[in-house]
Formats: sequence, C-alpha cells, structure tokens
Amino acid sequence: MHLNEERKCEMDEIDQFGWWGCWKCEHCLAVCPKGAISIFGRQPEDSLPPVKAESAAPVLDALIMNRHSCRRFLKKDVDASVIDGMLQTLGNAPNGGNKQQVEFTLIDDRAQMEAFRRLAYAEMDRLASEGVYPAGFDRASYEDMKRWEKTVRPEMLFCGAPCLLIPHAPLGRGEPVEDVNVAAAYFELLCASRGLGCVMMSFPKDALRNMPEIKALLHIPETHYVGVMLGFGWPEIRYARGTQRGVEEERIHRLRFTED
Ligand SMILES: Cc1cc2nc3c(=O)[nH]c(=O)nc-3n(C[C@H](O)[C@H](O)[C@H](O)COP(=O)(O)O)c2cc1C
Repeated sequence: MHLNEERKCEMDEIDQFGWWGCWKCEHCLAVCPKGAISIFGRQPEDSLPPVKAESAAPVLDALIMNRHSCRRFLKKDVDASVIDGMLQTLGNAPNGGNKQQVEFTLIDDRAQMEAFRRLAYAEMDRLASEGVYPAGFDRASYEDMKRWEKTVRPEMLFCGAPCLLIPHAPLGRGEPVEDVNVAAAYFELLCASRGLGCVMMSFPKDALRNMPEIKALLHIPETHYVGVMLGFGWPEIRYARGTQRGVEEERIHRLRFTED
C-alpha cells in the first residue's frame, strides 16, 4: 500500500493470487473507518453504506417470505439497466476463494426467448415422438404435461418466462457448484427486491440434456457446471402476503458438546 498524489492510501493490483497475495475481496476498502483506502480504481465514497440491523432484518425476512416462484409473467420486457444492476450486485456474493468465476448466460429479450422456446419445444416434441423423454418422464407423464399445458398453464418448460439467466462456472478449480447455486439464490432475492418474478428451474436443464444441438445454442462450454436456470420477468400475479412455511424442530439438529 502507498499514498497516492491525493495522499490517499492505494494498493496496486497484485498479480499473485492466494494466501500471501491479494484475494481481491476489497475488505480493505470496506473496513477502513476513515474511507482512506481506494483499490482497483474503486473509491470508498462510491460504496453503499451498511444497513442497520433494525431496518435490514425485517426487510430481508419479508423479502424471503414474500418471494414465491413465479410461473405467470406479463408480456413486458425488463429494462437492461435493471438486469445489469442486479448482475453487478451479484459480484459481491460469496464465492469459493473469491475466484469470481461464475459466468452468466442471459436471454434478456422476449423475442429472443420466444425463438429459443420454440426451438426447444419442437425438439422436445420430436424426441417424445421417438420415445425419448426428459429425465424423470415417461410417456404417460409427458402426456399429462401436454394436457396441463392446455388446461393449467401454456408453457411448462421455461414457465413462460420472458428472460432466462443461467449461471455457470468452469469445473476444476475452486467451488464452481456452490458458487453457481449461491449466485442463483442471490439473484432470485434480487428479483424479489425489485418486484420482479423469478423461478428457479431444473426441468429445462434436464430436458436440454437430450438436445445437444439446442443446448449448443446457449454457448455454454461442456467443461462448465450449470446449476438451476432462472426464469424472470414482471409477474402477472401479485401476492397479497408471505408464506409461513418455517422449519420444523425435527429438521434442526442442535449440537451440544460436553468436555469430560
Ligand atoms: C433446485 C430447484 C429446482 C427447481 N425446479 C423447478 C422447475 O423445473 N420448474 C418449476 O416450475 N419450479 C421449479 N422449482 C421451484 C420449486 O418448485 C419451488 O421453489 C417450491 O415449490 C417452493 O415454492 P416457492 O418457490 O413458490 O416458495 C425449483 C426450485 C429449486 C430450488
């Protein structure tokens, strides 16, 4: 660290990453009570201030209890600035060793999503006509789904979502599986905080496994881990209150250690 011309503390980017190097976590910028540390061109005065627990806790509780998987969306685009804002915030999510290796494949345009949906459906139906079904499906359950698409909701594969976010990360170093799923969970909450509907989906990932040509259109390297896919957009249904599911006592395993 050194003082720059404005007599502010500054640290050059350190090449060596790891135990004795810089993890690029920016804790130095965040912790300094005087706001004296700038790093990687970031100024402390541009950081968001901490939120007091008294105001943050009820808001976060309400967001979690009022987040409901959204499977009905308005035919309305989400502004790029809203999506970009959420993705930038996600850079601050915890991730193994702060390797920052989660990548985000994004369909942020309704017409593009429609085109992808049509291609995926055509292939899913073609495969079904040959007796090949998504994981967990057989002929009867696939036909049930097709029937429900006429009576319950017209699109089961991507839940009719106008936008799709697929977090993925290269397998091999760090914690790609956990990083990807943490990013997905945080993204879902960011959607809730902005009034956007979101649904985490494993079904499209299972269905796309049988469709290498459609999957290839996503340009996700085969060496990457893909977790849940997230459909999101402006919700058609406004819920009036939160759920009250809670966690039963049997699912909580409190440990007590005694030293004899
Ligand atoms: C790993 C995972 C996979 C999921 N896959 C799907 C899916 O493929 N399709 C779907 O409609 N919902 C999917 N969901 C949403 C769950 O059905 C939903 O979270 C659950 O029913 C609880 O309802 P809530 O999210 O509205 O509170 C998935 C959720 C998770 C966490």
